[in-house]
Amino acid sequence: MNKIIYLDAAASALKPQTVIDAERDFLENSYANTGRGVCARAMAADEMLAGSRKVVAEFIGAKPNQIVFTSGTTDAMNRIVNIVRLSRDVKTVAVSDIDHHSARMPWENIARNGFAELVKLPLTDNFDIDVENIPNADVMVITAMSNVLGMPQDVKKIIERARQQNPNVITIVDAAQFVAHSLIDVANWNCDFLCFSGHKIGSDTGVGVMYIKSPDDWSPDKFGGGMVQTISGNDWNIDVAPNKFEAGTLPLTQIAGLPFAISAWREWLGGADITSYIYNELSKMPRIKLLTKENAKIISFVVDGMHVLDFGALVGAAGVCLRVGNMCASWIHGLMGVSGSVRISVGPWNTMADAENIVNIIRGIVK
Ligand SMILES: Cc1ncc(COP(=O)(O)O)c(C=O)c1O
Repeated sequence: MNKIIYLDAAASALKPQTVIDAERDFLENSYANTGRGVCARAMAADEMLAGSRKVVAEFIGAKPNQIVFTSGTTDAMNRIVNIVRLSRDVKTVAVSDIDHHSARMPWENIARNGFAELVKLPLTDNFDIDVENIPNADVMVITAMSNVLGMPQDVKKIIERARQQNPNVITIVDAAQFVAHSLIDVANWNCDFLCFSGHKIGSDTGVGVMYIKSPDDWSPDKFGGGMVQTISGNDWNIDVAPNKFEAGTLPLTQIAGLPFAISAWREWLGGADITSYIYNELSKMPRIKLLTKENAKIISFVVDGMHVLDFGALVGAAGVCLRVGNMCASWIHGLMGVSGSVRISVGPWNTMADAENIVNIIRGIVK
């Protein structure tokens, strides 16, 4: 019997039974590699892969050949740097202080090595991306929702403005947090790339999604089995997307579970009442300094006179899992003048009773 109150969905979501069952079923009954065999199991695995891809595509308003399976957001964000640089000359890259390390560091690295210059996407006083002052850049990294602030950004408008500045700008959306709270329509956003991780919406770890609007326009960044049509001597013909971007064996078991995670998460897409109850109660506690806004999808705060790690240890001892630290988002913490924070984030498994319990536990700690 697990008495833990798990309030750390934004780090990773708990798994619905349907995901666990689907993975077990795949492993026990139809496991085989994809794209290589003609036996019954290989064909069943191919069907599973195509089916999963279709579900993901429908989930974000894309076509199946625009969906590339990766191992997660970090993997996709790093890959996109190579995909883009192999095909285009990149001189300026816009990043922002609400970015997660995974979104910004790959480009920071390019800049540090002298291959591009970083420019900043300015933020408003509320730490939203300032739509009115979008800079001119060759590449723009857009965090659709910060994992510290939990506010959805106006991605469509940001991209529209970015294209007014530079019609050829390459827009890359980090939707790792956004995907857990709202439906995405990539066609409406009109982004060039978008990525998210399955594990934050209830699928297993090790699988993520990289959407590519025009896969034919880009060079593959990974080479190997499954992505070549013909090869003869030094000559090769690369396969079309998505195979083109999926060299090597995919995380098939996790991919088998992903559609079940998506359908359970879609049915939920909620938690606002629980989040808002906790927020309101915390706002009455004088020692708590809330860093997030009332309507944010997650709650971040610091405690007056207490290090966030000490606070984390105290709530942890009371059976609560939440996140403390810099959340791999150092820049926004620096901007807010704190080195770290405490984060509460809810998922489909959380109840109002969890909310009341965490509020009572925190009240006891900060009294
Ligand atoms: C906004 C954001 N981007 C990227 C990531 C990285 O995701 P992953 O660790 O699944 O690759 C996270 C994870 O916390 C995130 O919150």
